[in-house]
Amino acid sequence: MASDDLVIRISGEGGEGVISCGEILAKAVVRGGLNIHAFRTFPAEIRGGLATFQLRAGSGPTLSLKQRIDYLLAFNQQSYDTWVDRIKPEGALLYDPKLCQPDDRLGGGRNFEVPLDQLSQDATGGTRAKNMVAVGATLGLFNVPLEYGKDQIAEFFGRKGKEIVGVNQQAVEAGFVYAKEHLRACHHEFERHPERDQITVTGNEAVALGALAAGVEYVAGYPITPATPIFEFLCKELPKFGGTAIQLEDEIASLANGIGASYVGKRVLTATSGPGLSLMSETLNLAAMAECPLVIINVMRGGPSTGLPTKTEQSDLKFAIYGTSGESPRCIMAPLSIYDCFWQIPRAFRIAERYQMPVIVLTDQAMAYSSMNIDTPALESIQHFRRLRPGQDAVRANFKRYAITETGVSPMPFPGEDDLPYIGTGLEHDETGAPNYTPANHRAMTAKRFQKLRTLGVHITQQPMEEVEPEGAEVGVIGWGSTYGAITEAIRMLDEKDGVKIAHLHPRVISPQNEWRTRRFLGPLRKIIVPEENYTGQYAHFLKGKFGIHPIEVHKIDGIPFTSEEIYEAIKEEL
Ligand code: COA
Repeated sequence: MASDDLVIRISGEGGEGVISCGEILAKAVVRGGLNIHAFRTFPAEIRGGLATFQLRAGSGPTLSLKQRIDYLLAFNQQSYDTWVDRIKPEGALLYDPKLCQPDDRLGGGRNFEVPLDQLSQDATGGTRAKNMVAVGATLGLFNVPLEYGKDQIAEFFGRKGKEIVGVNQQAVEAGFVYAKEHLRACHHEFERHPERDQITVTGNEAVALGALAAGVEYVAGYPITPATPIFEFLCKELPKFGGTAIQLEDEIASLANGIGASYVGKRVLTATSGPGLSLMSETLNLAAMAECPLVIINVMRGGPSTGLPTKTEQSDLKFAIYGTSGESPRCIMAPLSIYDCFWQIPRAFRIAERYQMPVIVLTDQAMAYSSMNIDTPALESIQHFRRLRPGQDAVRANFKRYAITETGVSPMPFPGEDDLPYIGTGLEHDETGAPNYTPANHRAMTAKRFQKLRTLGVHITQQPMEEVEPEGAEVGVIGWGSTYGAITEAIRMLDEKDGVKIAHLHPRVISPQNEWRTRRFLGPLRKIIVPEENYTGQYAHFLKGKFGIHPIEVHKIDGIPFTSEEIYEAIKEEL
């Protein structure tokens, strides 16, 4: 069969190795010349519950999670019962008859047996490697050679030793040989891309790589799902580039420690998730008040409280923008894809350094744990920016660390390097940094701090924004963060299937928002739809407050991101 795009969902009990199976398959498929979007979802427990990996692969762009699947590979009965209704009419089930008994919902010829346990037992003497039998059985679906699967196993299990690699390679071979004989009907042909200079990364990995590319020098962190992989990655890699990564006792200490490092001139990052950001809120005010640049990655998860630590949501936007006692400026950004996760981190550092303020970058669990193949970033094109330092002519006697300037930005000396008074304080202060509580001073210094945000707001009007405005469009969608792929594909479907043109705006800097361009976008539109993964319509309300519009709100809080089909249906309903 020839295919453009194929979706397989692999599902089983947490601890059975479904995620490893999916990751190995995904990387082998990329090497086979296809584009992928790979999504994983699992419970908060280490073992038990349902773990699911969905791989979408094809010749064209694969930007988002799909609602309907071509194949379900069910490791157990629960997986079958949960996902069987998602299988397309032309799709099929792959299952182990010992572990799953399908009913007659799919109809004749669409249930294919794959004795995962037995094949693993025969090939390796145990059932632990049944997930690698599954890799072998599904390589053929994408017409990928066995050798690619074996290589990926060597890479994936290399750290566990040669024996584990060998056993798993035997299992993948067993699955592959079985599929050649029994699953021929499921094999697909694709138009393939020749050798490409690409890497396959998760959103979290892209963020961490982006931080290295930005020249991060100091990472202070405390582990929290789903942000931990960023911290782990940087703990391992940053020292190789001469930087320091340190684990503190909690999120408050991490940010306070980061402020210290920023104060002495380092480029600083910390990564956390919702509850961690809540804990950091007061320390964030200190960063804003002392005007210490730093970047905070907040990987949003379902909440509040311990909530749904392994599920996705876009529900920290309001907190990120407004979660402050008193009024302290900060910039809020949201990358719109895994590729963008890489590129927005250097930009976040540039903004933090240029405007001497905290920048919060909002990603989410779905983007953080999904993976895609992306072009290897051209590092030489990354621009760096260092904060404003005092000039040679600055003298101790009259130096003002918090001098009121046109842009709001004042020169920052580094302790030990500049022979100038250096000061950082959370107390209201005057231009020299000395405590000062007079009404006139508080007014002036608050305005100075917010002047930086205004200057940034003007600066970003000159930068390109992700917007599509087809001629004659009367309806527009405004999204933020990881919904970009699903919205883009939904708009394409509306154009191709229904001949309807829809406009799309997807700002990367959310606050301050690019007001001039947003107003220009809104101008000709009759209806605005704002889909977001939260209950209360946080971005829609933000837009309402800023631009006086009344957008149609579309919410989802299932812990699973929007699919393009869901957005398509939501827009169609409004049309
Ligand atoms: N041979 C040898 N080892 C294998 C294997 C095989 N064939 N298949 C899998 N494994 C190993 C994996 O390498 C992994 O080992 P590691 O822990 O050393 O990395 C382990 O078995 C688990 O396999 P994996 O495929 O990664 O996961 P899974 O599909 O079985 O699902 C999870 C397990 C992901 C659901 C679970 O472990 C988890 O992480 N849950 C979330 C925990 C969390 O973050 N909670 C929130 C706290 S607030």
